[in-house]
Amino acid sequence: MSERTKNLPRRSCHATPGSNEKMLGKAPGLGADMVFLDLEDSVSPLEKEAAREKVVNAIKNQDWGDTTVCVRVNAWDTEWTYRDVITVVENAGERLDEIMLPKVQNAADVVALDLLLTQIEKVTGRQSRVGIEAQIETAQGLINVEEICAASDRLETIIFGPADFAASTEMPVLTGGVQIPEYPGDHFHYVFSKILMAGRANGLQVIDGPFLKIRELDALRDYAMRSRILGFDGKWSLHPDQVKVINEVYTPTQEQFDKAFDILDAYEKATTEGERRGAVMFGDEMIDEASRKMANKFVSRGSRAGMSRSAG
Ligand code: GLV
Ligand code: MG
Repeated sequence: MSERTKNLPRRSCHATPGSNEKMLGKAPGLGADMVFLDLEDSVSPLEKEAAREKVVNAIKNQDWGDTTVCVRVNAWDTEWTYRDVITVVENAGERLDEIMLPKVQNAADVVALDLLLTQIEKVTGRQSRVGIEAQIETAQGLINVEEICAASDRLETIIFGPADFAASTEMPVLTGGVQIPEYPGDHFHYVFSKILMAGRANGLQVIDGPFLKIRELDALRDYAMRSRILGFDGKWSLHPDQVKVINEVYTPTQEQFDKAFDILDAYEKATTEGERRGAVMFGDEMIDEASRKMANKFVSRGSRAGMSRSAG
């Protein structure tokens, strides 16, 4: 993992086709926490090789501020992967933070990338380690998600890819990552939960994939709230308009953020002063050590997003 980006927020993770110079040029200014320059499915097979150089140029010559910069390479079952990795990592320089590996099937897929990165870092004398983001988007990948999340200390995130996943499991849908009204419930609930547990058990950020109806921002907000409520850290954006909605959904509200601080203050006081109680009333709620842990998560998530406590 890269020390710089491991704990940076990734509320919005913006996909940018690596073959499209105009979109590459706009990517740093969209307000996304993380941007990935894609060499995989948003690039035509005939443009794959030329896209490598475009991606390298964009990383080296654009001002990325503190955005986490990632490149998605092609999956190991194609002929492009090793050259994608070598060309990009050897030439992009230190501003490249991470490589995203799609369609990860098992731990060995991650280990292979880790070994290749180690060699490139030795040869080029790179100072910072390159992090890895892994996509779970096949039935095999989901079955092996626990070993995948534990496969390398370079891993920073585990990501759900709903479009490829629907294809892999033969769901009768033609649009990826959207709600299916005919299904009574959330057709991906099991998948979200399984990926979340594996990611959290290994200290990774857990990211939801794309919502393909890019003009439907209310539906995006509604759907993103599902993975947010389960505990996910962020979601992909495919269009600039999606970035703002996604940043909003995955940031605590000011009210939640302030309440978390109030809980921490009240609990600190209760446990250290007077009768030193471990469980105490906070308004009309009982709080204890677990409440402190929950509140801490809000504080760290909000602080990472640049929030500050309201003056009170
Ligand atoms: C993303 O890569 C997806 O397949 O949903
Ligand atoms: Mg995919």
